[in-house]
Amino acid sequence: MCGIVGYIGKRNALPIVIDGLRALEYRGYDSAGVALWDGAKIRFEKAAGRVSALESRLSRKSTLWNGKSAIAHTRWATHGKPSDRNAHPHADCQGGIFVVHNGIIENYAELREALIREGHSFLSETDTEVLAHLFERPFLSSGKIFLEDAVLEGLRHVDGTFGIAVISKHDPEKIVVARRGSPIILGVGDEEYLVASDASAIVGVTKNVVYLHDNEAAVLAPSQMQIFNLSKKAIQKSVDKIDWDISQAQKGGFDHFMQKEIFEGPSALENVFLGRLIDPPTGGGSAKLGGIVAVRDRLLRAKKIIISACGTSYYAGLVGKHYFEEFAKIPASVEYASEFRYSNPVIDSDTAAIFISQSGETADTLEALREAKKRGALALGIVNVVGSTIARESDAGVYNHAGPEIGVASTKAFVSQLGALALLALFLGRERGAVSDVLGQKLVRELKAMPAKMKRVLSGDAEIKKLAEKYLKYKNFLYLGRKYQFPVALEGALKLKEISYRHAEGYASGEMKHGPIALIDENFPTVALAPKDPVYEKILSNIQEIKARNGRVLAVATEGDAKIGKLADDVIFIPQTLEMLTPLLSVIPLQLFAYHTAVLLGLDVDKPRNLAKSVTVE
Ligand code: AGP
Ligand code: GLU
Repeated sequence: MCGIVGYIGKRNALPIVIDGLRALEYRGYDSAGVALWDGAKIRFEKAAGRVSALESRLSRKSTLWNGKSAIAHTRWATHGKPSDRNAHPHADCQGGIFVVHNGIIENYAELREALIREGHSFLSETDTEVLAHLFERPFLSSGKIFLEDAVLEGLRHVDGTFGIAVISKHDPEKIVVARRGSPIILGVGDEEYLVASDASAIVGVTKNVVYLHDNEAAVLAPSQMQIFNLSKKAIQKSVDKIDWDISQAQKGGFDHFMQKEIFEGPSALENVFLGRLIDPPTGGGSAKLGGIVAVRDRLLRAKKIIISACGTSYYAGLVGKHYFEEFAKIPASVEYASEFRYSNPVIDSDTAAIFISQSGETADTLEALREAKKRGALALGIVNVVGSTIARESDAGVYNHAGPEIGVASTKAFVSQLGALALLALFLGRERGAVSDVLGQKLVRELKAMPAKMKRVLSGDAEIKKLAEKYLKYKNFLYLGRKYQFPVALEGALKLKEISYRHAEGYASGEMKHGPIALIDENFPTVALAPKDPVYEKILSNIQEIKARNGRVLAVATEGDAKIGKLADDVIFIPQTLEMLTPLLSVIPLQLFAYHTAVLLGLDVDKPRNLAKSVTVE
């Protein structure tokens, strides 16, 4: 998710943390805020929009804020739309404790209800605000207490992920930090300490850093730093040296955002599943989607599903069609949004229309949504950017929680979209009695295993880079897949096209003999998606047809497949999984192949020519 910065030491904290927020500018976010201890009270300011909006608010203050400790935040909204009110930091009822947070408090709804019953009042719609009130409780019950003890006590009640920094007027000369599932780095200066979620916010002050691990916390005071686990057992940590320059730090050590985001695929999938998988020890697994509770009955009455999107999101929709038909037993069709909005789709109140969009701002998809609503359909959004137009105009939906996707070529968002579609299909399948207890449990267990299997595919990156070098001389490619792999072939071809400018065509492998096979010769290689699935033998025949015409074949196949190596010229192996989940694995080699090809060609991977991250025009 987004960015945290904190400073405590001998200098004025405000300019240091604002510089830190600016260093996080690249991450893309929707609001920012700061809280500073000025020796007498905590001052705070926050604003929707860029850091510059916060800075202009601060510049209008009568006196420059001066203080030795401050915490600041750039928000990537997950709960509660982007706004001044929902920007961090968030405070307790008395304004005595301020917290900034990256991550998702999975059980925030229950905690919020319990805290309200105890008399706490909330100002924002965010999940984060529950933390401030949880940290307030120990002060209310026991009066004098160390801030770190109040924080550790509060965190005992929290499910989900957090990277936090906390300051309080009750115990002012310190910053308390803690992490679980969201990065926290500590900067060690000369009688000054920093905390940040990303090295780029620290490297301008010091290159000496300590990396907190999950379930660890620390107290930063002007002259000392203590680190301990969440049970307050002291931990010794080494001080490392950042060996990146600032631009590298922003990419977390990767060379490009696209590369970083491909490698974030497993965590993006974990985030879309966070708090949404039901996996009881006995009985069937299922999915719970808070974002569609309000429209559950309408959705269950739907007689058909229409999915509409653009580009990569459209290809995710093609996979989703299989999910809904195979598991929810609902007829599903997929339409390009740019076509849908000008055609005459047969839509009525018995139609559930699903709009998939990473940015939530794609003009064609937005207009298609408006068209569907006009015709009475239930409009659901599968969107990554919280509070975006498509999210706001949908009747309900599922947020991806994939975090900011900076690279123009969509990668982790695609994986996250498949995860969201699988959850929705599983939910519908269970609610409609189309998915049994046994199948439900099998699906949930395998969904949970997917991030680790994705990491195994990513570990083959070096071999895929070598293949990109080997195929660099070719100017045209055919990508073939069948059933669940056909959309992956389309997506793999799009990745290559949009960042390497090499022509690539995704095709249903069964369609080869209806024309494209005329293209095959030694200068026209084929990427064939050939996992061990019910249509495996069919794709083998296609590969044989290609080899018979001197075409080169790079196959993506299942680990342990002894046949494919005798046929294809090169093979990238992926782990075995359920047929419906194989796209989550087979897309990764295609993302990496396209990435390395573009890098080898010296092209601008993150900002390819002619493209924009969000196509907000028709
Ligand atoms: C995918 O790599 C491209 N950037 C593009 O096709 C993109 O998927 C399409 O423009 C849709 O964007 P959206 O998901 O933000 O609506
Ligand atoms: N879940 C929190 C919110 O929506 C934090 C989001 C983030 O990581 O920026 O405010």
